[in-house]
Amino acid sequence: MPDIKWITNNSLTKPSHQNEFSFAKVNSVQQFHAGFPGYAPTPLVSLTSMAQSLGLGGLYVKDESYRFGLNAFKALGGSYAIGRYLADRLGIDIAEATFEVLTSPATKKKLGEMTFVTATDGNHGRGVAWAAAKLGHKSVVYMPKGSSPERLKNIQREGAEASITALNYDDAVRLAADNAQKHGWIVVQDTAWPGYQEIPLWIMQGYTTMAMEAYQELAAQKVKPTHIFLQAGVGSFAAAIQAFVLNAYPDAPPKVVIVEPHAANCIFRSAEAGDGKPRFVSGDMNTIMAGLACGEPSTIAWGILAAASDMFISCPDWVAARGMRVLGNPLGTDSRIIAGESGAVTAGIVSLLMTCSDLSQAREELKLNSSAQVLVINTEGDTDPDNYRSIVWDGAYSSPV
Ligand SMILES: Cc1ncc(COP(=O)(O)O)c(C=O)c1O
Repeated sequence: MPDIKWITNNSLTKPSHQNEFSFAKVNSVQQFHAGFPGYAPTPLVSLTSMAQSLGLGGLYVKDESYRFGLNAFKALGGSYAIGRYLADRLGIDIAEATFEVLTSPATKKKLGEMTFVTATDGNHGRGVAWAAAKLGHKSVVYMPKGSSPERLKNIQREGAEASITALNYDDAVRLAADNAQKHGWIVVQDTAWPGYQEIPLWIMQGYTTMAMEAYQELAAQKVKPTHIFLQAGVGSFAAAIQAFVLNAYPDAPPKVVIVEPHAANCIFRSAEAGDGKPRFVSGDMNTIMAGLACGEPSTIAWGILAAASDMFISCPDWVAARGMRVLGNPLGTDSRIIAGESGAVTAGIVSLLMTCSDLSQAREELKLNSSAQVLVINTEGDTDPDNYRSIVWDGAYSSPV
């Protein structure tokens, strides 16, 4: 039996915040991003041969490694949140806060230079640093202990004052909040907690550009997804997509499955506890899925996922490694996808659900069969290139099945 745990949500309800992810709101987020230099929809790759081999009707991968040339989806959140914040400070609507307006001399004169601060495993900080620099502001970024030096360099390259701390992720978030208070900086954190809701909600709304693109790209191929697998750290990314798909496919929303590493499975544990309250994981949370190594669910995200997601899965690191190899070694005429650890775990779990007899009950419960049109999102490319090679070339974290 592979060491994979899953739990079904038997009490689905309408989540709070669903209206914040309406079609109209998500449309306006996409308009905002479309005005940014370098914006282009990321590819939606159809893995036809893989779907056939696994016994699925279709398997689609939205490849966010192409997002703004930053190798991960995260800049969508930081850029929209900073844009919303600046629009508020200017007293204008986000629809008027175009890139040209936000970077104009008049805006600079009115607002001066601000400092945005955040804590990150890598991708979010790189996105905040990139967005702050593009909009003419400063950024400070704190990383948890054990963070990849390559990821640190990528953040510094975007102009941030960035460092690796001796803290775990959740404590690095607290450091960012404390220093913001001391120095008058603005916290742009991708997780909500009691009393800090507005900016994380904007970040979540920012993520929905990728969901709208996927919706448009699938519609162009006349495909309606039946299943979406989403990886979770604090859950903001997954919850944003979850809330949007309820609005995008109101008559028959796709089943949504949330996937986490065992070492940081706070959403899974919260679902397992079954009382609606979030549960925390503490300590170092050692996992190769650095982007998912978060032990405290975002309060907004947990509310949405608890109400609306169909299944929660907790899995070991080798599932992500398998996903990286599966996507990097395509079948037939399928395209090759370079996926990092946090990006690949959902492809890894789909491949296992379809082939591993020990998981047949989960497969049947989800109705994953030849009628299923499955969407996964590759949320990052090879953001840790050394680890990418050791997994894909040398077979590190090999599958025990
Ligand atoms: C590559 C990648 N995928 C997924 C996630 C998960 O996002 P969230 O923390 O909002 O659940 C992250 C978070 O940093 C990430 O970097």
